[in-house]
Amino acid sequence: MQELTFRVQRYNPGENKEPYLQEFTIPSSQGMTVLDGLIYIKENVDNTLSFRSSCRMGICGSCGMLINNFPMLACHSPVEELKTDRIEVRSLPNFPVIRDLVPSLDPLFAKHKSIKPYIIGPDMKEVEAPTSEYSQSREELEAYVQFAYCVKCGLCMAACPSVATDSLFLGPQPLGQAYRYCADRRDIGAKERFHVADSPHGIWLCHLAGACSEACPKGVDPALAIQLLKRAMVSDSLRLRKKKKPASLAQPPATSKPKIDVPEFTVTQ
Ligand code: FES
Repeated sequence: MQELTFRVQRYNPGENKEPYLQEFTIPSSQGMTVLDGLIYIKENVDNTLSFRSSCRMGICGSCGMLINNFPMLACHSPVEELKTDRIEVRSLPNFPVIRDLVPSLDPLFAKHKSIKPYIIGPDMKEVEAPTSEYSQSREELEAYVQFAYCVKCGLCMAACPSVATDSLFLGPQPLGQAYRYCADRRDIGAKERFHVADSPHGIWLCHLAGACSEACPKGVDPALAIQLLKRAMVSDSLRLRKKKKPASLAQPPATSKPKIDVPEFTVTQ
């Protein structure tokens, strides 16, 4: 059976001054992912190894790691695609390490919260206790939907060279999400987000390296969102920004359920 060598970052702040790499040799199996390898090590070799995972299918965003020097989701990284039998796994860069491969994502969540990642509607009562749905055309949905696929895994922040040089820089995830809400016709909170983005550690520190978009496992393009947000902010300051027509409420749902004709049984007893 083919073997794999995993070089895994270990760090216990109570015991080690600096992180170090520990080597494990494990059997490979067909379809194995990097996460499977780490689970094998934890279950069979060293149960003190710490890492984070949950869904195992690239949805929850909790298994972000630096795999052979590139930020990736461990559950979404088949070993076969790495084209090597030596796999180095480290904690995500640009985040403090809690232990081994577990980064603290608190800075990401704090920055994300600061851009008000929710609909700020003209009628907040309606937003908080909806009586109906807002109607939205396909074009209006397409203006923001790809940015709404963000799973907050932090890979874009780990890849960003500007976050690496300024840990206070808002970064691609929060700025991308700021644009996602500004582009939504149900939202009227753009000015509040422009104010947050237009700060000394804000949007103007992005120099369009594009590493964020390359790293995103969900196909979101935060670099594009940041450029669109910059354009919206400049247009707004020059009073050239087109006003969005506020979204209108769809017809309230029918009070009685529509009658559905049930087909005859096709199998008789
Ligand atoms: Fe959920 Fe990897 S475990 S994205």
